[in-house]
Amino acid sequence: MSITSTAISDSSLRPIVSLPRFDRPTYLMCSPEWYDVDYVINPWMAGNLHRPSRDLAFAQWKALHNELQRIADVRLIHGQQGAPDMVFVGHSAVVQHGIAALSSFAHPQRQAEEKHLRRWFESAGFLVWETPRETAFEGEGDALFNAEGNHLWAAHGVRTCLQSHRHVADAWHAGVTSLHLVDPRFYHLDTCFVPLSGGCLLYFPGAFDKPSRAKIEAAYSPERRIAVTEAEATRFACNVINVGNEIILGTTGTGLAGRLEAWGYNVTQVNLSEFIRGGGSAKALALRLSDSRITHQLTSHSAE
Ligand code: ARG
Repeated sequence: MSITSTAISDSSLRPIVSLPRFDRPTYLMCSPEWYDVDYVINPWMAGNLHRPSRDLAFAQWKALHNELQRIADVRLIHGQQGAPDMVFVGHSAVVQHGIAALSSFAHPQRQAEEKHLRRWFESAGFLVWETPRETAFEGEGDALFNAEGNHLWAAHGVRTCLQSHRHVADAWHAGVTSLHLVDPRFYHLDTCFVPLSGGCLLYFPGAFDKPSRAKIEAAYSPERRIAVTEAEATRFACNVINVGNEIILGTTGTGLAGRLEAWGYNVTQVNLSEFIRGGGSAKALALRLSDSRITHQLTSHSAE
């Protein structure tokens, strides 16, 4: 028996040998062939059972994929029959430094995605950080690094358990601030909070309780906070993908794009109506794989 080949084929040792590194902004997307609204686990899905148009959903997903490819490398995982929400791959994990803290979904309907996601992360060479079933954790749905990548913001109150926050942050020995979500329409942190390149924050204050708002306001000074209105928030205005000074968001039909441009960002809007029926928009459809530092790096004449 060759000791070398044993060591390399041992999955517990492989990540130590070489964790994946990305020198360019890189995201993961999941193809939408099995996407549908098959059940109701958030208020947006109510009244939308089997209503998404398959053709339109595919065209919208493809448009988002094209836009994201313009500014980042995009890896692909295939959707699976019986896992209609897997297209919302943003909730599969939180990734930093080649370590993927894998989700333990709160609802059995989404737990069906977990084995496919684990297989993808393992075969791509990530070090997989397990999260216990008893303390639900829903990836970048509820846990987002600041733009510098050294501090985690994590939400609880609807899906993710407060008790999971410290365990997840320990994957990187990072600090973590817990935020309490209080409005069922904003059931994931990514529906109401997004740290942006250059140290700004786009958020909807009404989604949080008072102590959480105070924590946010202590970390981001008023000139770094971009608050959206309730009308914007209910159009998933905070569910954006941000790479450098580029922002991709679903169409909000409000003046938000102009406001973000005034802050120095280049904004692209993509109609994602069929995914909003399922309760998600741009950010939920893509998972950041490259480190925050690489993803949020600003070019010389961009937002600061
Ligand atoms: N149907 C999915 C769920 O309820 C939608 C997720 C989209 N979510 C989001 N955070 N934007 O889990």
